[in-house]
Amino acid sequence: MFWRSILLLPTLVSASNWNWEQIDLERVDFPETFLWGTASSEYQISGAEKLPNCQWAEWEKKGDPAIKGGQTSGSAIEGWDRYKEDIALLKEMGLNSYRFSVDWSAIEPEEGYFDKEAIEHYLDVCKELKKNNIEPMITLHHFTHPIWFEEKGAFEKRENIDYFVRFAKFVFTELSNDVSLWCTMNEPTVIALMGYILGEFPPGKRGIFLAAEVLNNMLFAHVAVYKELKQMKNGDASQIGIVHSYLKFEPYSGWNPIEAMPCLFFTKNLHQTVMDFFKTGEFSSMFFQRESVPEAKESFDFFGLNYYSRPVIGMKFSLKEFLGPTCFPGEVMTDMPYPSYAEGFYDALIDCGTLGKPVYVTENGIADEKDDRRELFIKKYLYALSRAISDGVDVRGYFYWSLIDNFEWAEGWSMKFGLYECDLESKERVLRDGSKAYIEAVNRHNQSHELLEGLISC
Ligand code: BGC
Repeated sequence: MFWRSILLLPTLVSASNWNWEQIDLERVDFPETFLWGTASSEYQISGAEKLPNCQWAEWEKKGDPAIKGGQTSGSAIEGWDRYKEDIALLKEMGLNSYRFSVDWSAIEPEEGYFDKEAIEHYLDVCKELKKNNIEPMITLHHFTHPIWFEEKGAFEKRENIDYFVRFAKFVFTELSNDVSLWCTMNEPTVIALMGYILGEFPPGKRGIFLAAEVLNNMLFAHVAVYKELKQMKNGDASQIGIVHSYLKFEPYSGWNPIEAMPCLFFTKNLHQTVMDFFKTGEFSSMFFQRESVPEAKESFDFFGLNYYSRPVIGMKFSLKEFLGPTCFPGEVMTDMPYPSYAEGFYDALIDCGTLGKPVYVTENGIADEKDDRRELFIKKYLYALSRAISDGVDVRGYFYWSLIDNFEWAEGWSMKFGLYECDLESKERVLRDGSKAYIEAVNRHNQSHELLEGLISC
């Protein structure tokens, strides 16, 4: 209910700030069995040429402004075909896990027709990862689905969930002998926001009631998939979770209602609703939509946390825009419309820890084309991660977004999240200097544990 949501106001202004000058960024420690990886999604690395039956391939045809400057994904970074090369990069960096998505439109391009070659491709990817001692983590839905599913109304309709469940069961049957970490869905709230409030993702609608309904259905779909997969062969041995975009919006000047009200609206509907759903088994939007799904509380073996930052909303005194993204004094903006904010990462981890399940950081990273903020970003966020672990949060792994620059949805190619940059002509992958901080942290961890193991066996 709206008035109950007002109680959220204090959480908008209660962010932490650390004195970084007094912090030793090298003082980090991670569990021995920690998973170190990177994350990607198929459409972002393979593009519309490889995935012509995907609703995003259709969306791209709209050109500008659907995608900034009318850019297109094309063959992207040829992720589909160059998987061996990219797995070799993971290996070279010392990583032991990789989160990637299987593209529904490649596997089921027409309703009810499952493409053998596509699923065999994913089997090969999993085998190649295993051969290199890299643990696969699969995402079943990462913003994309087949055009036929979009035409049926996708997650706008509760009855469409059955199609997603059928697809999930098919993939699980084929791949679960080689994969034990599964994410049902990536960031349902981002689909609700971008696809149904801002209209910047397909289907490009703008309706807050419908957005809440889509979110409700996606969360319900997650529960349905979880229940089904757990009953299947390999179900018990698999860890199945959901991936949530942890987004708390903050008003620049505290209580100014022009800034605070949209922050309250977005934080409640795009974040708190999801946390509450998994904590209490109750779905409740600001628009009086209510549903009791008690099984939700036990519908995940881990919680997948995607954390980048907390967006700060401030008033602008320009004719073009009167409210927009900003940062607090002393903060550093990333190339995305939010600052770097490692304290928020720590807070998010502590909060997710209260759900009572292991946490994987399924995405974290920085868009930084100049590569002049990446190194410090990595060091600070890994410090925050280590601090949350030592304060008791059961975090099992960390996946940096992303291995290589890729197609950033409506932003096109302008956002450079990759540890590696990619020449879009030659497709050559080149390591960024700032990324070495990640490689060093991982290798320091690997060596100290090898050393420890050596000492124990002596
Ligand atoms: C999404 C990714 C996206 C990343 C960076 C996440 O919300 O899962 O697909 O590229 O953020 O913006």
